[in-house]
Amino acid sequence: MENLTKVYKPGQYPAVNQLCIAVQPGECFGLLGMNGAGKTTTFKMLTGNTPITSGNAYIAGHSIKTDIDSARQSIGYCPQFDALDSHLTGYEHLEFYARLRGIPEKHVRKVAVWGIRKLGLLPHGHRCAGTYSGGNKRKLSTAIALIGNPSVVFLDEPTTGMDPKARRFLWNCIIDIVKEGRSVILTSHSMEECEALCTRLAIMVNGQFRCLGSIQHLKNKYGNGYTLTVRVANEPSAMQEVQKFIETTFGNAASLQEQHLNQMEYQLAPSLSLAVVFQELEKARQLLRIEDYSVSQTTLDQVFISFAKMQADVTEGVPTESIARQIVRNKRGKRIKGGNENGAAVTGDIELLVRHSYASSNNQSFATHMV
Ligand SMILES: Nc1ncnc2c1ncn2[C@@H]1O[C@H](COP(=O)(O)OP(=O)(O)OP(=O)(O)O)[C@@H](O)[C@H]1O
Ligand SMILES: [Mg+2]
Repeated sequence: MENLTKVYKPGQYPAVNQLCIAVQPGECFGLLGMNGAGKTTTFKMLTGNTPITSGNAYIAGHSIKTDIDSARQSIGYCPQFDALDSHLTGYEHLEFYARLRGIPEKHVRKVAVWGIRKLGLLPHGHRCAGTYSGGNKRKLSTAIALIGNPSVVFLDEPTTGMDPKARRFLWNCIIDIVKEGRSVILTSHSMEECEALCTRLAIMVNGQFRCLGSIQHLKNKYGNGYTLTVRVANEPSAMQEVQKFIETTFGNAASLQEQHLNQMEYQLAPSLSLAVVFQELEKARQLLRIEDYSVSQTTLDQVFISFAKMQADVTEGVPTESIARQIVRNKRGKRIKGGNENGAAVTGDIELLVRHSYASSNNQSFATHMV
C-alpha cells in the first residue's frame, strides 16, 4: 500500500488516511482498531469494492488503481457482512464461486467438497444458507474466500459469532494457508486471535496506523511495565485500605487503571522491583484482607485500549482541520463531545455477492506480495 486514502464525502475526515505497508508471502498480518477505525474501508479499497481517493496498492504486482481485474485474480475476500444467497446451499455457493474463479467444470464439485470439508461444514453442506447459524455463515464466507487458492486472502472479522471450537478450527485453517506461503490480512476484535495467528499487526486509529510490529515488539514498546491485579474481600472498606496501602508503599510507580466490584488493576512502572511488590503484598496480605493478587506482563488488550482511547468520533461534514484539533485534544486525555459514528455501512447483499466474486481465467497460484 502506498499512501492509500479514502474520503467518503468531500470535507469529511478521511476514513483511511495515507496507509503504507507491505505484506509478504507466508505472513498473517492483523489489522486492529476500534469500530469505525477504517479497517473494512481499507479492505474494500484493496478488493475494488470502493474507489480509492488517493494513493495506490499492488497485489501480486498489479495496481488496484489501473489493473484491478488482474489484482482480483490473486484475491480471496471474506467480507465483514456475509454476502450469501439464502436460497443456495453451501455446496451450491462454492460451486458458483468455483465457476466464477475459472475452475474447469470437471473439478468444480471436487473444489466445493474440499471447501465444505476444510471449514467443517459437512453436516450443513446441503442446507440452504438462509437456515445457517451466524457462525456457519462465517465459515461458508471464509470457504468462498479460499476457493481457487488465492495468494492474498482478506478476512474481515472471520470468527465473529463463532463458538470457541469453531474459532480454533478456523485458526488452524488460517495457519495452514500461511504455511503454504500465502498472505492473510485479517481484522479482528479478539486480541487472543491476533496473538494466535498474526506475525505482525497494526493498530488503526481514525484511519491511520498508530503502531506496527510483532506482538512482542508492541508489548515491549507500548506495554508499560507490568499489571498488578488485586482481589479483596467484598467490603467497601477493604478496597479503600488496599488503595491507601498501595499508594503509600509504591507511590507514583503504581497507578490505578481499573476497578470492578472487589477487584483493582494497577499499572506498575518498569522501575519497580517485582521482588519488592511481592514482598510488600505478602506482608500485608492478611491484614488488608487481600484474597489473591497476580502480577502479569502487559497484555495486548491493554496495548489496544491505550491506542483506542485516541479514537475520536468523527462528525460527518465537520471540516478536517477542526477534527484534527479534536483528535489532538483527545490524545491529551480530554473527553470529546458530540460526533457520531455509524459503524460500517452495509451495502446490499447482492452487491457484495457480485463484487466479491473474482473471476479468474485460470486456477494458478501466484507468488504474491503486496508492495
Ligand atoms: N459508505 C460509506 N459512506 C460514508 N461513510 C462511511 C461509509 N462506510 C464507512 N464509512 C465511515 O468510514 C469510517 C470507517 O468505517 P469502517 O467500516 O471502515 O470501520 P471499521 O474499522 O471496519 O469498523 P468496525 O470495527 O465497526 O467494522 C467510519 O467513520 C464510517 O462511518
Ligand atoms: Mg469493519
